[in-house]
Amino acid sequence: MTAEGAVASPVQELLDELHARVQTVTDGEVATYIPALGKADPALFGLALATQDGHVYSAGDAATPFTVQSVSKPFVYALALHDRGLNAVLERVGVEPTGEGFDAIRLEPDTGRPLNPMVNAGAIVTASLVTGDDYGQRFQRIIDGLSAFAGRELRLDHGVLASEERTGDHNRALGYLLRNAGALEGDVDEAVGVYFRQCSVVVTARDLAVMAVTLAAGGVNPVTGERVVGADTCEHVLAVMATSGTYDFAGEWLLRAGLPAKSGVSGGLMAALPSQLGIGVYSPPLDRRGTSVRAIAACQELSSRFGLHLMRPVNRTTPVLHRFLRGDALGSQRTRRHAEREILRREARAIAVCELQGDLGFAAADVAVRAVSDDLAGVRWLVLDLHRVPRTEPVAVELLDSFAAELRGLGVTTVVSTEPGRTPLAAAETAFGTLDEALEWCEDALIAAACAAAPDGRLDLDAAVPLSEQDLLRDLPADMLDVLTPLLAERSLEPGQALFEPGAALDETLYFVVSGSLALQRLDGDAPEPLRLASMGPGTAVTGLTVADDRGAYRVVAEEPTVCRVLPAAAVKALDDDHPQVVEALHWAMARSLAARLRRADAQNQALIGSVP
Ligand code: DON
Repeated sequence: MTAEGAVASPVQELLDELHARVQTVTDGEVATYIPALGKADPALFGLALATQDGHVYSAGDAATPFTVQSVSKPFVYALALHDRGLNAVLERVGVEPTGEGFDAIRLEPDTGRPLNPMVNAGAIVTASLVTGDDYGQRFQRIIDGLSAFAGRELRLDHGVLASEERTGDHNRALGYLLRNAGALEGDVDEAVGVYFRQCSVVVTARDLAVMAVTLAAGGVNPVTGERVVGADTCEHVLAVMATSGTYDFAGEWLLRAGLPAKSGVSGGLMAALPSQLGIGVYSPPLDRRGTSVRAIAACQELSSRFGLHLMRPVNRTTPVLHRFLRGDALGSQRTRRHAEREILRREARAIAVCELQGDLGFAAADVAVRAVSDDLAGVRWLVLDLHRVPRTEPVAVELLDSFAAELRGLGVTTVVSTEPGRTPLAAAETAFGTLDEALEWCEDALIAAACAAAPDGRLDLDAAVPLSEQDLLRDLPADMLDVLTPLLAERSLEPGQALFEPGAALDETLYFVVSGSLALQRLDGDAPEPLRLASMGPGTAVTGLTVADDRGAYRVVAEEPTVCRVLPAAAVKALDDDHPQVVEALHWAMARSLAARLRRADAQNQALIGSVP
């Protein structure tokens, strides 16, 4: 607990401890071949970690500015890929590791291409490929792009730029070699000048963490919400960082840290773990290969301590099946006439409900398909609910789609319930916005099939339900029904017409649904549409108690042309005086109906509790 009473972050505590330990590392030398870099304080050490949802933890000198140097290269590569496309960039810059240092003078013998965009030769060509008619526009595109990755406006350090321009003949030689080999077009000094400028952009360790997590998040900066580049581009950049980001240290780096990373001679380093986080480090002392010594120690410890290694099997924390039930355990909220309930009581196991959860990639979709396939005996309708699936990879949709097509061939109809607008499965019969609607549709289909298959006594689902067949009245003796019938008025409702509005004065008036359907809806303040909680079909009795709620958030409306027979409260009161036995029988019938519903609800709850893995 911190002094302000807020709960201290365990991540921050871990980061602070790690920072303190690594601060004690004193190996390495500050780079001086660019004289301005030699002024850096070797004791400086900033560490930052940015999460996929845009939270940034930092420790030490995470806000201390320094020039980005080679850490700029992956981002400029991303901009070139974004501006030109992968194939056009590949024609000019390869993606193979060199096994040599960052300043290697090595081009592909047959094509003249630099081997990859992380070494200086490749970076000089890459900088020439971003959009811009001249080097001024190209540098503006670069600093704007770097700023978008960082989520704030970055600036140029003119002192370091001047220092590198005075000592940059090695890069100029690379530039002439590249132009001679046909890998670089136009003026060499201009091209190398753009590269010098990109290296002299000022960042902090915090900036690097945000830039890295933007790559890890598929190109959207989680702090600003701005899309900088596409997800495919980020895949390509992270792949090249993994093989070449730390040059001739890339193999050992991937072995020990296991994170796509990029180093820089001012002591900066960024690392990214796809779909999880970005790391930014700044500490000037370098090892002989030009990588920050403290950055290596910090990232290796973060990777092992936090289990971040790219090759580490990540066991799915949640099983892909949230629930897998049959229709006898999980039914719709539709109140049905007695004959329908009898059919469902006998045959509801022909409906299966599969609720998936978590991101659906190849492995998860494969597990789901095999789990469902193993338990489909007797199933004719399958509901696939995707409400708990935030993201589906295209391959997962493909697997589920071909599964639904396969099932159709076996006589199983698949329906999907998911947020409106999500990609339903082409092979699914239909899709619904709620699981309850999907369930109700399958129940209706099952009942219709049972009726069609019945040799005699077809149940006409559209037939009006006479009073004698009403749930509450079907067990009443005929003489009592004769007393009740003359008291019942008739009321018709058009689709959308309310029987009970929120907050309406409610009493014991009883409505017997003879034909059509009523829906109980909840009106959530900011929801665009009311939420359909249940539906009441013919044979159902409804009273104002259905919507009695002090928040006035419920109403009952007709879903289609509906006819009710109405027993007014006043008539019930008068009946109590003249025929109390009828009222008593009615109350008993209501109690029995309520008890039956509670038993069904309990049975479903038991099934749901039992089904939670
Ligand atoms: O071109 C140079 O030498 C510097 N501007 C950048 C080199 C660099 O950062 C190498 N990475 N470790």
